[in-house]
Amino acid sequence: MGNIEERKRDHISLCLDLGDEVEFAEKTTWLEHVELIHDALPELSWDEISLEASLLGRKFSCPILIEGMTGGAREAYEINKNLAEAAEKLNIPMGVGSQRAGIENPSLAETYSIARKAAPRCFLIGNLSGVEIAAHGISYAEKAVEIIEADALAIHLNVLQEIIQPEGSRNFKGILRAIEMLCDKLDVPVIVKEVGFGISREVAEKLVRAGVKAIDVAGAGGTNWARIEGERVRGLKMIKARTAELYSEWGIPTAASILEVSGIRGLEVIASGGIRNGLQAAKAIALGACFIGMARPLLKPALKGPEHVEKVIMRVAEELRVAMLLTGSKTIRDLRKCKYVLLGPLREWVLQRVRRPSRARR
Ligand SMILES: Cc1cc2nc3c(=O)[nH]c(=O)nc-3n(C[C@H](O)[C@H](O)[C@H](O)COP(=O)(O)O)c2cc1C
Repeated sequence: MGNIEERKRDHISLCLDLGDEVEFAEKTTWLEHVELIHDALPELSWDEISLEASLLGRKFSCPILIEGMTGGAREAYEINKNLAEAAEKLNIPMGVGSQRAGIENPSLAETYSIARKAAPRCFLIGNLSGVEIAAHGISYAEKAVEIIEADALAIHLNVLQEIIQPEGSRNFKGILRAIEMLCDKLDVPVIVKEVGFGISREVAEKLVRAGVKAIDVAGAGGTNWARIEGERVRGLKMIKARTAELYSEWGIPTAASILEVSGIRGLEVIASGGIRNGLQAAKAIALGACFIGMARPLLKPALKGPEHVEKVIMRVAEELRVAMLLTGSKTIRDLRKCKYVLLGPLREWVLQRVRRPSRARR
């Protein structure tokens, strides 16, 4: 259970073997509580709808990001290679998983750098945890960027995951300061992401003040790291397994997290956490995201080959295009202005939490 390579292997195999058991059981993304208003008279032709989208100053064919998943284990080499080939072909951005393993053990660096080799022009996003940059600072971040010639670096915040992991950190101090230093010193933009428990407005405001240019909410409703780490300790560490169970429905649902952080000046919002189809993607964009991200749905296809990854992305893009037609949105910018109604718990959340109720266009 101890070394990083084994942990990375565990994560991949649990995500593959347990299927939907590694997702939230009860909590959802709450995107089902968003109704986009149907436009029966869109005055658009299918072919003129453009999915072109931009993120951190780069243009892409569609607003879909391959979320950072892996690296640091032999199996990861093939996964990152296939994801990167698909990303390059489709002209979409891609993240790699946490690069600590490749920094600490140079023989594993190629399980990440294969992404750059397979995708020389792709917008690649490096990945480190907040805990690691607080402990090791700029040198780790520079190394992570160098290994994949990254175009941006994502710092993940994963407090609940660390607490359940037997080998996880107990110290979450100094992370904001470390992020601020990276934003100041690093040559590439810094993205901050969660791993599936969402980001609140208060946290987003602190991050923006620190210089962060984009936030990936990675909200609750999709892959659930309390459950995955809980599986790893089941039968071995009773208290941790019970803690994992107790907190297995913790987190800010993706739709609520998008509404929390969107509208902050100078911030680009990526919506991930449980996005599984193009209608959910359209709703996330209407709520204020400029991009959506997907992780676990791409893992199994990535083991089979790049064309399988492309197929999933193209299916989601096609579904998104349908939502754009049905809301009279010719461009992603139009979709971001599209009318919607919020229902049920999401409406309640907005009334209590979001200081801009007019954005809810009730
Ligand atoms: C197998 C797997 C490994 C992951 N590893 C990382 C990681 O190393 N760093 C990170 O920031 N997020 C990691 N994530 C989280 C994803 O980037 C994403 O934020 C989260 O899974 C929510 O998206 P989803 O519901 O579409 O899976 C991982 C996800 C999966 C499925």
